[in-house]
Amino acid sequence: MTTLFDPLHAGALQLANRIVMAPLTRQRARAGLVPTALTTEYYRQRASAGLIVTEASQICPAGQGYGDTPGIYSREQVAAWRRVTDAVHAAGGQVVIQLWHVGRISHVTLQPGGAAPVSSTARTAVAKTRIGEGLVEVSAPRALRTDELPGLIEDYRHAARCAMDAGFDGVEVHGANGYLLDQFLRDSINDRSDAYGGSIANRARLLVEVMRAVASEIGGDRTAVRISPVTPSNGAGQDSDPQALHEYVAGQIAPLGLAYLHVIEGATGGARDTPPFDYAALKASYRRAHPCLAWMVNNSYTREMALTAVASGTADLVAFGRPFISNPDLVRRLRDDLPLAEVNRETIYGGGEVGYTDYPAAA
Ligand code: PHB
Repeated sequence: MTTLFDPLHAGALQLANRIVMAPLTRQRARAGLVPTALTTEYYRQRASAGLIVTEASQICPAGQGYGDTPGIYSREQVAAWRRVTDAVHAAGGQVVIQLWHVGRISHVTLQPGGAAPVSSTARTAVAKTRIGEGLVEVSAPRALRTDELPGLIEDYRHAARCAMDAGFDGVEVHGANGYLLDQFLRDSINDRSDAYGGSIANRARLLVEVMRAVASEIGGDRTAVRISPVTPSNGAGQDSDPQALHEYVAGQIAPLGLAYLHVIEGATGGARDTPPFDYAALKASYRRAHPCLAWMVNNSYTREMALTAVASGTADLVAFGRPFISNPDLVRRLRDDLPLAEVNRETIYGGGEVGYTDYPAAA
């Protein structure tokens, strides 16, 4: 029987166990939006995870939506991320970077030239973002013109190339949580009348073209995607038929031979079971085109749930978010059934080592 602690080959990734550190925004990048020496230490401490997915990192300056999040598009950023990947590899881990464009979940003070954030729509999200010390309403967006989309896809391709240059084992495209690609997917947001709006095929087009561009640049077996079919995060609302939408996406991107599919079940960081969605049916759709695709699940998994998910074959990989903030040695604690430390919510975003690199391993 397969357990949570057994190794797994997922595409080109060679994972020592099935426990994944989920992407976690920490807002601690410094000048030039580069990860720091403290960031290197933070990830090094967590390298016993079978896989680390880094915090979401913007693919271009306009992709930023929160203060002090790192980028993966400049030479300086590549050099700084190289120190992170070297440290994780030296500690025996594997690490992919999450490629992020926030779309309309941003604020003009973060945008190049103070411009409006871009989206599939010109309608403002009912959502907040974190800048400096506080929460602010997101800014009114501008709808991207059709002729701007090829350049956007090139930004994803460029970021994926930068990720390889920085020594990452792969990339995870952020298609979830009401950010840019999700703003195109959902008919609760996308109000376009061009080839990227309207039908399911049209709304899925941008994600599919991004996935093809990234996979052609670095290999499908180093490319992954994160989706959240029914989360209401960031004012995303609910698509009118998320099942049909995501089954269509599966048919388009599974043939790329992806390393894994990462699915947030339910409301991100919240209720798992509402609204309903048939994850097993979606998994079956992906597996029809890609029989050995690794299936990664996420959202408030307990040790017991994770053990059961892998033992029963419901999932190949289980991603833990908040527990990895406060338990750098989460893999050992799960293996030995040790108590977990609680996260201090006051120190998640921004600041220095407090709440970042100072959570101890269990004695
Ligand atoms: C956040 O910073 O709150 C955040 C970032 C990325 C996500 C979800 C939440 O996918």
